[in-house]
Amino acid sequence: MADTILITGGAGFIGRHLARALLAEGHRVRVLDSLIEQVHGGRGRPDELDPDTELVVGDVRDDGVVRRSLAGVDKVVHLAAEVGVGQSMYAVDRYVSVNDHGTAILFQQLIERPVKRVVVASSMSIYGEGLYRTADGGLVEDAVRRPRTGAGAPWDPVDDRGRPLVPVPTPEWKRPALASVYAITKHVQERLTLTLAPAYGMEGVALRLWNVYGPGQALSNPYTGVLAIFASRIHNGQAPMVFEDGKQRRDFVHVEDIARAFLLALDHPRAPGEVYNIASGEDRSVEEVAALLAEAMGRSGLRPEIAGKARAGDIRHCIADLTKARTELGLGAPRDFGRGLAELAEWVARQQAEDRVAQARRELEARGLVA
Ligand code: UD1
Repeated sequence: MADTILITGGAGFIGRHLARALLAEGHRVRVLDSLIEQVHGGRGRPDELDPDTELVVGDVRDDGVVRRSLAGVDKVVHLAAEVGVGQSMYAVDRYVSVNDHGTAILFQQLIERPVKRVVVASSMSIYGEGLYRTADGGLVEDAVRRPRTGAGAPWDPVDDRGRPLVPVPTPEWKRPALASVYAITKHVQERLTLTLAPAYGMEGVALRLWNVYGPGQALSNPYTGVLAIFASRIHNGQAPMVFEDGKQRRDFVHVEDIARAFLLALDHPRAPGEVYNIASGEDRSVEEVAALLAEAMGRSGLRPEIAGKARAGDIRHCIADLTKARTELGLGAPRDFGRGLAELAEWVARQQAEDRVAQARRELEARGLVA
């Protein structure tokens, strides 16, 4: 059945792909987005937003605009959020305000005009460090990074005998360990959705997204995801700047796979009340993806520059256990990473990208947030 779906923050990277996927399924799509400068560069409606999408320009913290946006809506996807882990550690009021107060305003209005289902974009960052295994095979749920004591000290979390722990796929049951302001706000968004939706006869679902990449990510935003940052650097002939030793591992998931996961979460009868990890199921080091991207962009000579310093709030490793999303939601096979990078490279080649990474790094360093 065709529904009217409101996507908050829907003019952004994920929202535009999701809007297209929903329109292709015959739904009507309305987007509420404030088109913030850091992401949209002061331009108006993004060209990549499908012309069949209705755009309401406004802030998710503005109750009047939220009320109007909810008129005639059957389901909501809540994407509106500030998304930079590093930036959240100093722009504290902005992150807490947009992400948590914004979600509160949304639900305040939903109480008056409930919809059938609300799907919120949560984040893998709420786990803090992912699940680890000790050298003896025991599982460690509460690994923490200790400040490094010297240049030779390990980057990885260690066991009580000082041996590095080995990351293993993290399932949804791992308790949250909130290591950044961003993670705190995402956890609040998730809990507000899963607490308030059922209290008012709605269905709530949370997707914990891993590191999303693909064409359309804001290239001139130095606080966006690492692959877009690297793409912007390489496009401008600069080497990617890699924090730590580059061996930290993440799971990079293509934005089209994310759009498909939202379609499942919006519709599936098993989903209400649940949280799902959404990723590709393949983990890679940051250094490796920097090199692979440079190669895909025809600039393999641009070797990653290893900073040897960590960004405050960053976790070391977190990789996804997708068993639940695959068995319950039917999450499909991911897009091939090589193909995804090739498409990204092809898209970046046609873009203008302002490289503001050095400036962003100075902002973090000036506050002692890179050490
Ligand atoms: C990212 C998302 C977050 C999402 C989370 C889910 C962004 C800005 N952040 O956080 O919204 O919820 O994934 O997994 O999209 N790095 C470098 N050089 C750089 C930038 C980053 O080496 O120039 C490193 C970081 O130190 C980190 C890794 O790359 O180790 C990933 O960083 P980032 O892309 O910011 O992602 P997350 O912090 O994982």
